[in-house]
Amino acid sequence: MFIEANVPLQPHNTFGIVAKAHALVRVRSEADAQAVAADPALRVMPKFVLGGGSNLVLTGDVKPLVLKVEVMGIRLVADTPKAWVVEAGAGENWHSVVAWTLAHGHPGLENLALIPGTMGASPVQNIGAYGVELQDRFESLDAVDLATGQTFTLDAAQCAFGYRDSVFKHAPTRPGDLGLAGKALITRVRLRLPKPWKPVLGYADLEKKMVETGMTQPSAQKIFDWVCAIRRAKLPDPQVVGNAGSFFKNPTVTPEQCADIIAREPRLVHYPMVDGNVKLAAGWLIDACGWKGKSVGQASVYEKQALVLVNRGGATGGEVMTLAKAIQTSVYERFGIRLEPEPVVM
Ligand code: EPU
Repeated sequence: MFIEANVPLQPHNTFGIVAKAHALVRVRSEADAQAVAADPALRVMPKFVLGGGSNLVLTGDVKPLVLKVEVMGIRLVADTPKAWVVEAGAGENWHSVVAWTLAHGHPGLENLALIPGTMGASPVQNIGAYGVELQDRFESLDAVDLATGQTFTLDAAQCAFGYRDSVFKHAPTRPGDLGLAGKALITRVRLRLPKPWKPVLGYADLEKKMVETGMTQPSAQKIFDWVCAIRRAKLPDPQVVGNAGSFFKNPTVTPEQCADIIAREPRLVHYPMVDGNVKLAAGWLIDACGWKGKSVGQASVYEKQALVLVNRGGATGGEVMTLAKAIQTSVYERFGIRLEPEPVVM
């Protein structure tokens, strides 16, 4: 194990914010994570687990010990009449895993193409797009307890998945609380791709592609290509313009609250959910408040998707958060809705 000091984090966060890690350890295996837990000085330090940094706003140098996850490897671990189970190291790039499964004839992840970030981060925020969430394809994961060095396996129920949420996003505030943020490091994730493959095509953008092309039964590869095209048209490429994807979660309200807003704002974009509540498009709310293209310093609201904040070059985490707070205030004042940020703020 090698501890690096004062490591620049700009290449390791997709927002491209300049900040340093006071101390950083690269974790390439379970043994590396166990070595951290076994070290008397490191064991007691607060820790921050870093994957691809695609869901992160850095507001200054990072004082907790940064554990940069670089566990690699992709393999098929089971092929049964009901499913393929694919396992990937937490450091693998998410999109590369999606492409690998399709190239090897195991469809099921195509709707989740081109999501930035790593395999290990995918269950942390239960990534989702175009009608599929990670939890719909999740089998189990392996992790290391950073206090004891013990390895353990969690199934979907134990991960407590919610909308862009899991047990890994919560820090325990009291002894006995659930919450594994900073307490555990995910090393490997297994995904279950059900057989026979069934396309998920209910999302409006995909229905539009079917109408445009006249294809009623697209292959998994075709859906993958469509999702890549839709994302490239709507969302900024973090390699070109720094960003962390959707900056806020889509809020849910009761049917009564929704009816109340529609009475004032008939064009409100909303989706009824199975539990009877209604999900609102946060992008529409922000757009309706006139935020597209507005800036604080070098942090701006993306012109093509108001839910995405971007770094115009040299933005600080403080600028991003000042812009985010101004957006929250204006949406609250106009609609009475409190938007909740999606990324982790450090
Ligand atoms: N809209 C506007 N103006 C905007 C942005 C959106 O009017 O500036 C309207 C759109 O016209 C559309 C609706 O809002 O009717 C929803 O927009 P979109 O289809 O782009 O999806 P979203 O709700 O903004 C969510 C996820 C994305 C995911 C897409 C596709 C969240 C917070 N975001 O975005 O996930 O890719 O659906 O499934 O749930 C991410 O989490 O980082 C992310 C990119």
